[in-house]
Amino acid sequence: METKKWTQLWLDYHKAYEGDCVWETKLEGFSDSQVVVANALYEFRRGIEALTGEMVPDSGKDKADEGKTLTLTIQNNKAIPSEGYHIEGSEKGVLVEASDERGVLYGVFAILRQIGCGKKATEVSETASPSNPLRMMNHWDNMDGSIERGYSGESFFYEKEEIVINDRTRDYARFMASIGINGIVINNVNVKGAASYLITDRYFDQLARLSEIFNDYGISLFMSLNFASPIEIGGMDTCDPLDENVIAWWENKVKEVYDRLPLLGGFLVKADSEGRPGPFTYGRTQADGANMLGDVIKPYGGIIIWRCFVYNCTQDWRDTKTDRARAGYDYFKDLDGAYHDNVVLQIKNGPMDFQIREPVSPLLGGLQHTNQMLEVQIAQEYTGHQIDLCYLIPLFKEVLDFHTYCCEGKDTVADVVSGRTMGNKLAGMAAVINTGNDMNWTGNDLAAVNLYGFGRLSFDTTLSSEEIAKEWIALTFDLPEKEADVLCKMLLRSREIYEKYSSPLGIGWMVTPNGHYGPSVDGYEYSRWGTYHRADHLGIGVDRTDKGTGYAQQYYKENAKMYNDPKTCPEELLLFFHHIPYTWMLKTGKTLIQHIYDSHFEGEEEARGLAADWDSLKGAVPEEVFDRVKERFDLQLDNAREWRDQVNSYFYRKSGIADEKGRTIY
Ligand code: GCU
Repeated sequence: METKKWTQLWLDYHKAYEGDCVWETKLEGFSDSQVVVANALYEFRRGIEALTGEMVPDSGKDKADEGKTLTLTIQNNKAIPSEGYHIEGSEKGVLVEASDERGVLYGVFAILRQIGCGKKATEVSETASPSNPLRMMNHWDNMDGSIERGYSGESFFYEKEEIVINDRTRDYARFMASIGINGIVINNVNVKGAASYLITDRYFDQLARLSEIFNDYGISLFMSLNFASPIEIGGMDTCDPLDENVIAWWENKVKEVYDRLPLLGGFLVKADSEGRPGPFTYGRTQADGANMLGDVIKPYGGIIIWRCFVYNCTQDWRDTKTDRARAGYDYFKDLDGAYHDNVVLQIKNGPMDFQIREPVSPLLGGLQHTNQMLEVQIAQEYTGHQIDLCYLIPLFKEVLDFHTYCCEGKDTVADVVSGRTMGNKLAGMAAVINTGNDMNWTGNDLAAVNLYGFGRLSFDTTLSSEEIAKEWIALTFDLPEKEADVLCKMLLRSREIYEKYSSPLGIGWMVTPNGHYGPSVDGYEYSRWGTYHRADHLGIGVDRTDKGTGYAQQYYKENAKMYNDPKTCPEELLLFFHHIPYTWMLKTGKTLIQHIYDSHFEGEEEARGLAADWDSLKGAVPEEVFDRVKERFDLQLDNAREWRDQVNSYFYRKSGIADEKGRTIY
């Protein structure tokens, strides 16, 4: 197989300073026969040599006899929390303290990050331990090499139904470890065709190799599972989770899997969702399905991650009582507490589907006795396909900072999904990943900030969007301060810009069906997917109050009350919760219709500002990066213009109300 070249992303170390020392390494309470530790030393050597020009000879080799020596001391300190580290530079070198191998690896990457961001090795200093126990990437890669919602080429895991393992696989593991990712699901949640056979002998050898590569970088391999496996690969006529023969089949299967893949972390399951099989077919609950698998995998220390993306996707658009936004809570809340210890529910950030603006899912914190983790999407399915610039960390921060009111004190989403609220261990964050086999991994070079950012944020939810952006810029590009600042500001305003020129005030959708790039205001209006804006000649929005679908009542009372009243509902979510007349006066003193016009004109103009800022970086960033990103800005400007004109024309034609400023609307 031909292997394309690929970039080193944020590990493409630039010379930070010219060092004049030689390093030696010392292990205390760890050994380099521990493979993660050995990889940490490898990373240190590779990083230091590139960042400072200083050599780190292999231990055992003769040290250079001239020049100053610095020592990297890696010390076991049981007081450091699991996966955490303490790093401290001094004139003698750097000390890394950790209580486990992952902590050592993360500590070493932290040293390299700090040097990449401007510190001398002797100045580094940090004490950190992960906010979230589970920090996962979910690949939606299919075994034919395609990627569901992929915008960066084909899969680097699969080609023609075979698993591909090469140097790129290892680099990928390195990148993920460098940002603290400790679990990776390697196949699409929609498990079909060959992917159903990942749990058979056909793939065990390659999967074992892959799990070792991951393991050596502190990452557990996970797979998405086909709930109907007993039927599809077992030849049975049912997959009823309470059927004894089905349970016995799973017991044998999971034993076979763990015999061959002892490092497997567990399975991710999308059941009863968008045509996927599940327990509902047999009149069973989601807990029946999840717990059965949980029990079967328990002896091996595995976990079951069960998705809550369950809703009726064959809705009649005429039906205004059924509300897709309600579905997750309606299906899962009643069973709170019924899920077994090694089951964790994975909940999308919003109640719909990764729109540019949604309220936080009321299930997060709504469940009070169930392991839960947050799912976000860095693949830019609805946010511009990695053509349009959209830095998503500000969106994720809003979700994490949201007060659910599930309890006094520790009630933010960050508290809930970290396990702090309930004191549970199985908790965390997962992202639908934005990578593919493009040489730069993410199609748009700038989309790598979301990849980097998700990892960093899931490790430390207190980091700000700006801190993360700055780190990524410093590590990826070797830019002077002024240029770095231009790029940072571009990233920080990009999400708001995308929001301004796309669907207004939280209503979402209005995208081209299926592909989900570009506008089609009524594209999903008369569809079966539960995705309606309900615009007529007087107003727009979905009434989700107590007089409408009642969705707002799924929140704890403080939030329920706030959302229920259009006067207290945050305006960015106004149309998600309310059907509002075009003449409604917003807090800015503008009418709703004027806001729609203004924000769309502004959004398009600000997108042009982003493109112009990028132009100003010509010569400062590598030429091929400049060109690739510029190409995408050209497309983004077309997209922004299309959104602006279609949305404005649509609402002008519906409402008959002219733009106060008399701008061109069609
Ligand atoms: C979205 C997306 C699908 C995906 C689904 C999911 O609806 O468009 O491609 O399968 O989410 O999260 O399972």
